[in-house]
Amino acid sequence: MILGIETSCDETAASVVVRDQSGHGTIRSNVVRSQLDEHAAFGGVVPELAARAHVEWLDHIIAQAMDEAGIALSDIDAVAATAGPGLIGGVLVGLTTAKALAASLDKPLIAINHLEGHALTARLTNGVKFPYLMLLVSGGHSQFVLVRGVGDYERWGGTIDDALGEAFDKVAKLLSLGHPGGPAVERIAQQGDPKRFKFPKPLLREERLDFSFSGLKTAVRLQAEALAPLSDQDVADIAASFQDTVAFIVGFRARQALEKFATQFSGEPIRLVVAGGVAANRRIAEALQAPCTELGADLIVPPIALCTDNGAMIAWAGAERFALEDTDSLAIAARPRWPLQDEDMKVKSHGA
Ligand code: KG4
Ligand code: ZN
Repeated sequence: MILGIETSCDETAASVVVRDQSGHGTIRSNVVRSQLDEHAAFGGVVPELAARAHVEWLDHIIAQAMDEAGIALSDIDAVAATAGPGLIGGVLVGLTTAKALAASLDKPLIAINHLEGHALTARLTNGVKFPYLMLLVSGGHSQFVLVRGVGDYERWGGTIDDALGEAFDKVAKLLSLGHPGGPAVERIAQQGDPKRFKFPKPLLREERLDFSFSGLKTAVRLQAEALAPLSDQDVADIAASFQDTVAFIVGFRARQALEKFATQFSGEPIRLVVAGGVAANRRIAEALQAPCTELGADLIVPPIALCTDNGAMIAWAGAERFALEDTDSLAIAARPRWPLQDEDMKVKSHGA
């Protein structure tokens, strides 16, 4: 029975998850407080405000998670918390709280890489077996990761500039659609003509499994400036054309990554797990389904509330590590950057 704490961005979250002997997980509680209102006026997450809100709310969120799970803190076997990557002020709040709880309860601490939380969620929700390919597409990350086992990851590629969710947010901002931008762009795109504008598809001619969305965003901005003042139809057409372009790019790269997986693991089932807030986008989901159907791969998308940031994914990653008796010293440090790769996963930094 693991308590999981997540504070690396703008969600203050705590959850209790149980993992049984056979490796089956159950969510006993999953409390998430989004800070959207705190940051709305600024058009993005303000790190200092986020950290302060985590300080103010985390104790209540943990108490609520314990309450909903119907257990006392002393019933918990270990405390897991995100130790990075993320906004360092927020990470420090969650990790320090977890250390204090672990010390006072005399229970182990498990420091979790936030990306590992996303990577292992599909095992909690869908019981997915290793190995599988994960595509993480959120506001902060866009990457393909081969997941061979707990702690055994290989990054196959990712964005060299903006994350995909970030590109959606920036396009929404320049079209005055508000924050967070992804859902707003998707909604308005339904009224738009996705063929009206032809936007660039950066990097696509190159073999590597990388993305670049910053040039595309600039092309969208130049188009919007050229047409200004924009009619409602112009806005919808730009949103639809942008969304179609990124859906094409993501689908194209996913096919390439699945082919690489199929070659490397011939005979194994091919599985693609999607995580991160952008997984909510239906046009992108369709673009991912197409290559999966063609290559006979399973596409696994956990429920969207568990694709976006939450405490259950951290508690579950903690439970998987706890089962392997992999716990951490209270001296472990928070890390603003922490790539999900073997060598980095093994080197957890200790000290101040
Ligand atoms: O995973 P997440 O909740 O937070 C982190 O970034 O960690 O992802 C949020 C991102 C935002 O950039 C948001 O605009 C994007 O996911 N997003 C979407 C959609 N829903 C959320 N992007 C495109 N279409 C959507 N329907
Ligand atoms: Zn995340």
